Amino acid sequence: MSTRRRRVTGLGTLNRKGLIMRITVVGTGYVGLVTGVCLADTGNHVVGVDVDAEKVERLGRGECTIFEPGLSDLLQSNLAAGRFRMTTDLKAAVEHAEVIFIAIGTPPREDGSADLSMIEAAVQDIARAVNKKTILAMKSTVPVGTGDRVESLMTPLTKHPVIVVSNPEFLKEGTAVDDFQRPDRVVIGSEDPEAAEIMKELYQPFVRNQHPVLIIHRSAAELVKYAANCYLSTRISFINQIANLCVPLGVDIDEVKVGMAYDNRIGFHFLYPGIGYGGSCFPKDVQALCHVAKSFGAEVDLLSAVHEVNERQKRLLVEKIKYHFKGDLAGRTLALWGIAFKPRTDDIREAPALIVIAGLLEAGVTVRAHDPKALPNLRRLFGDRIGYFDDAYKAAAGADGLVICTEWNEFRSPDFQHLRESLRGPVIFDGRNLYTIQQMRRLGFTYYSVGRPSVRPE
Ligand SMILES: NC(=O)c1ccc[n+]([C@@H]2O[C@H](COP(=O)([O-])OP(=O)(O)OC[C@H]3O[C@@H](n4cnc5c(N)ncnc54)[C@H](O)[C@@H]3O)[C@@H](O)[C@H]2O)c1
Repeated sequence: MSTRRRRVTGLGTLNRKGLIMRITVVGTGYVGLVTGVCLADTGNHVVGVDVDAEKVERLGRGECTIFEPGLSDLLQSNLAAGRFRMTTDLKAAVEHAEVIFIAIGTPPREDGSADLSMIEAAVQDIARAVNKKTILAMKSTVPVGTGDRVESLMTPLTKHPVIVVSNPEFLKEGTAVDDFQRPDRVVIGSEDPEAAEIMKELYQPFVRNQHPVLIIHRSAAELVKYAANCYLSTRISFINQIANLCVPLGVDIDEVKVGMAYDNRIGFHFLYPGIGYGGSCFPKDVQALCHVAKSFGAEVDLLSAVHEVNERQKRLLVEKIKYHFKGDLAGRTLALWGIAFKPRTDDIREAPALIVIAGLLEAGVTVRAHDPKALPNLRRLFGDRIGYFDDAYKAAAGADGLVICTEWNEFRSPDFQHLRESLRGPVIFDGRNLYTIQQMRRLGFTYYSVGRPSVRPE
């Protein structure tokens, strides 16, 4: 351990494997829980703190509150090893920590701006509890200038120095554990070399693949996260707009996409046409950056368009369904496969499927929903207004058609004969282009997808 570091924390201890740190993660949702257990897994002593007492209780006895591949095992093994524990006691958790991570939600306000009220309340409580020089690492996605604001909120409330560092998180739900353990890069925004060095050391076990830990200015780090999410959202809206153009042109977007993506400058990632992006990040981050830019008098018409294209795209399937049934939807029944905003997660925040369900219900359709992991979250939202089926084919039984909103692996090659026999009407509205046109034609389905010709049985 360097002397520099000992001066900052005063609490570090050495073991043979390297540095062990005392960490507190405030907010144990998708980001905080993954961060907490992954840091515990590399030997650190981690306390997770959350205001949701039920969540704390469940996590504390090893019950994973979210679905994320590999997370449950990590939670249980680190609880058992005594390296991870949960509490609602913020004061004790703050006193424990040399580094405090903030992983609290930053939901959108009505005007699109990021609502920082939960973070602002938490950091003031933290300031009142802090009992030594401490690093506060901001993992939540927050607008440029939040680090400064947090400092100004905390400074009057404590006599101990709190060094506020930006440490945006780039994990993807569905592969969050893997992303955290093998990040493409770690971004640390700090003008304090000592704090930056400690943060870098903390991440060393995760960058053994030589991927970089980038130390940059705090405000730049805050912007990196928004810029990255806005860029990825732009690719999605771009390919969706080209896909929509393919329809009147009589061109197949899949052929266009492949022709584009083999260009080394372009690549395949985030170039999949569909019914738009959802989740708790892209929609809110695009809007939040628009809001920030406007408040600085800067033009962000590209990002406004990205958002608008996506909003329209989420309504595409309902339009196709109305077209197919000639507007006569009342009294029909449709099966819906895939609710989560993406595969391998139970997160349904801003999921395009929610817009589809709302549109169908409004048109008088009975909805029979299936998702491998997201049904409990869906039930909390729609109650008894729709049907819930653990079995995909039972959802399809007797339905006038099948609607696909999420590209779960299990939907990629279903038992088509079973599906045909289950459905009353052999029509599929595919919002993720899971099947080929040739396949659907051969199997005798009527098939609608995104940016490709529709298929009618010969
Ligand atoms: N979900 C993602 O994929 C992802 C990826 C990267 C960054 N982010 C960002 O990370 C942040 C957190 O996102 P999330 O998806 O994990 O949110 P989440 O809603 O899943 O979790 C937030 C947690 O914070 C808790 N909380 C709220 N106020 C608190 C307080 N005062 N003290 C302690 N706990 C409190 C909530 O109870 C909840 O458990 C957001 O800013 C988000 O934009 C999310």
